[in-house]
Amino acid sequence: MDWGMKNRLSQIIKPDTNRTVMLAVDHGYFLGPTSGLEEPAKTIEPLLPYADSLMLTRGVLRVSVNPGSSTPIVLRVSGGNSILGEDLSKEAITVSVKDAIRLNVSAVALSIYVGSKYEHQTLKNLATLVSECEEYGIPVLAVTAVGKEMVRDARYLSLACRIAAEIGAHFVKTYYCEDFQKVVKTCPVPVVIAGGKKIAEKDALKLAYNAVKDGAVGVDMGRNIFQSKDPVGMIKAVRQIVHENAKPEDVFRSLKL
Ligand code: R5P
Repeated sequence: MDWGMKNRLSQIIKPDTNRTVMLAVDHGYFLGPTSGLEEPAKTIEPLLPYADSLMLTRGVLRVSVNPGSSTPIVLRVSGGNSILGEDLSKEAITVSVKDAIRLNVSAVALSIYVGSKYEHQTLKNLATLVSECEEYGIPVLAVTAVGKEMVRDARYLSLACRIAAEIGAHFVKTYYCEDFQKVVKTCPVPVVIAGGKKIAEKDALKLAYNAVKDGAVGVDMGRNIFQSKDPVGMIKAVRQIVHENAKPEDVFRSLKL
């Protein structure tokens, strides 16, 4: 890995703890105005100081984040579908690497849909993106998206994460599951977990705790932060778990719910 690539990756996965709290607010790319993200700038602004990086689309980045911000950007560069479309897995690369560089991003993110109708297309997207990004030292985050019919178990998620890493993703985002240690152990690059649908705050904190305990380098969490009654309290609590190994029950008490 060259210097630029390592430098960008260390802007996201903090070298002092080797962990990261990424804030995901890219949901609108196929879900439109997701609950809690109707006005992205308002959601993002109070949370930004506590995020190690912000994951979003270029459209929202341009109008919702102050260019003076020093928070590293992980830019979603895949899409082209919607919740109403033919098949969620029918994604393309939606942003050129040139534009990602112009936006000064620290990494780019793309979804792969292993086992879905357009699996091949999404894996080819990943291969193309990695090859282009290698030229400029930009890390690629592969997001192991799952179709409605996919079981989120260790067998399936290990398959998806390992394929992403084999194609050349520099880090992988997946879901927490039973036997998650197996997913991490068989994936040769760092793994972060998505939060998934909104659940009780206590459970979301446990999820983050278990994920890092089982080897994840952190979280790329969205709805369980910005849909909480106390979004700032939640991201602060998640930070304590991820970076300081705090216990969920201890940080839960500080939430204003
Ligand atoms: C989904 O494809 C998006 O990349 C989301 O950013 C991701 O699911 C993480 O957000 P959440 O924690 O809300 O699941």
